[in-house]
Amino acid sequence: MAAIDYQERIPNNVDLNNDRRLQRALEHWQPKFLDWWKGLGPEGFMGADVYLRTAVSVDAKGWAHFGHVKMPEYRWGIFLADRDPNRTIGFGDEMGKPVWQEVPGEHRSVLRNLIVTQGDTEPASVEQQRLLGQTCPSLYDLRNLFQVNVEEGRHLWAMVYLLHAYFGRDGREQAEELLMRHSGDADNPRILSTFNEPIDDWLSFFMFTYFTDRDGKYQLKCLAESSFDPLSRTCQFMLTEEAHHMFVGETGIGRVVKRALEVMQEAGTDDPEAIRKAGAIDLQLLQRYVNFWFSSCLDLFGSEKSSNAASYFASGVKGRADEASYEDHVCIDSIFELEVPDEKGKATIEEVPMRNAMNEVVRQAYIKDCMVGVTRWNRLIKKAGFDFEITLPSERFRRGIGPWAGMPMDPQGNMLSQEEYERRKTEFLPTEADRAYVKSLMKPVMEPGKVASWIAPPDRGINNQPANYEYVRVH
Ligand SMILES: [Fe+2]
Ligand SMILES: [Fe+2]
Repeated sequence: MAAIDYQERIPNNVDLNNDRRLQRALEHWQPKFLDWWKGLGPEGFMGADVYLRTAVSVDAKGWAHFGHVKMPEYRWGIFLADRDPNRTIGFGDEMGKPVWQEVPGEHRSVLRNLIVTQGDTEPASVEQQRLLGQTCPSLYDLRNLFQVNVEEGRHLWAMVYLLHAYFGRDGREQAEELLMRHSGDADNPRILSTFNEPIDDWLSFFMFTYFTDRDGKYQLKCLAESSFDPLSRTCQFMLTEEAHHMFVGETGIGRVVKRALEVMQEAGTDDPEAIRKAGAIDLQLLQRYVNFWFSSCLDLFGSEKSSNAASYFASGVKGRADEASYEDHVCIDSIFELEVPDEKGKATIEEVPMRNAMNEVVRQAYIKDCMVGVTRWNRLIKKAGFDFEITLPSERFRRGIGPWAGMPMDPQGNMLSQEEYERRKTEFLPTEADRAYVKSLMKPVMEPGKVASWIAPPDRGINNQPANYEYVRVH
């Protein structure tokens, strides 16, 4: 089962040529996907040879093949993790029963919506990042951007396969619409608002891959627990690819920090002006970007109290990330102590049925995961002898949904007056000047082995390639 058939027009490990109808339907969708890729994928690099990895099996070890390919010739395909014939439902009211190989009628629309929402984010991020190649800080980074982009394209394939294979005519219609909505389009935008903001500088790209792709990781982890087995198996393999996206984010931000520290040591100061004079990014600015991206990603998990989350859990369509790590998988009479604001904006505890707090449970796991990289960056700062700590802002800061939505909080989670919040906003969030400065740094560096002034070179190459490797050949 694990072998992937690359002789087929659509590489797959789902026996596609034994289902002619499905095969034809997907072959009909394929040229539309390619048109979309050429029109809204990475601009200016369609003819470039890019050192990309392509999945050749779904084994955790040795699953990828590396080589130069032109992106439109990348072999996007359908790869599901192997089926476990003994898998049973791991949580909720149906716990212990066999998992579903077909979509139960009563869960059909919920599952379809979850798949469409997940699927919509994948091409959205490619669209958001389509101009970034033109300002890459190095060929290594350019290649990583394109690797992330082609894999998001493959994640779209993963969701489209499910829609075609299991949801009949409306599944096929939804698959078409995934190519019709466009990031930032006034009339037909992407479903989630974060995915309609352009990402036009590389610091934002690293923030996106660190924070937003990590939200993606947690959504995939929740869907990997689903009782709908084909969805679970698809997500399991997507997670293997996703790990690299977060690596790009964590090492990208880490290299920005490292470069700032080098300049700080040379100049013997941590004054932002001096750092900027040397063409690096000051840690204060970096912190404001962290505040912005972390807070917007927290909203992606949904409201703290959610009856939808409760019913997804009860019915078994969507679990908690790493469900096996929890003791109680039914959560019928347990409670969650949720912090909600009192009249003065101070936190007070509200007892919420555990099932209704599942979004919050997963968000907490996400926050813990976000801390891992932050701790590493802070270790670099400390080692360099500077007294500065990058922090994640409070969960109450700049929220758009949930009980803390719209409250004027500082990043420590203290309520301010609206007036004070507006006045001090430039301390908390990227200013016009910050963005303009970052933008001024965005000049392409395309010589093998060379790296822009604002970021340190990577510690090692992709697939052990040397530092001056030509990851992307532009003709
Ligand atoms: Fe993805
Ligand atoms: Fe991703």
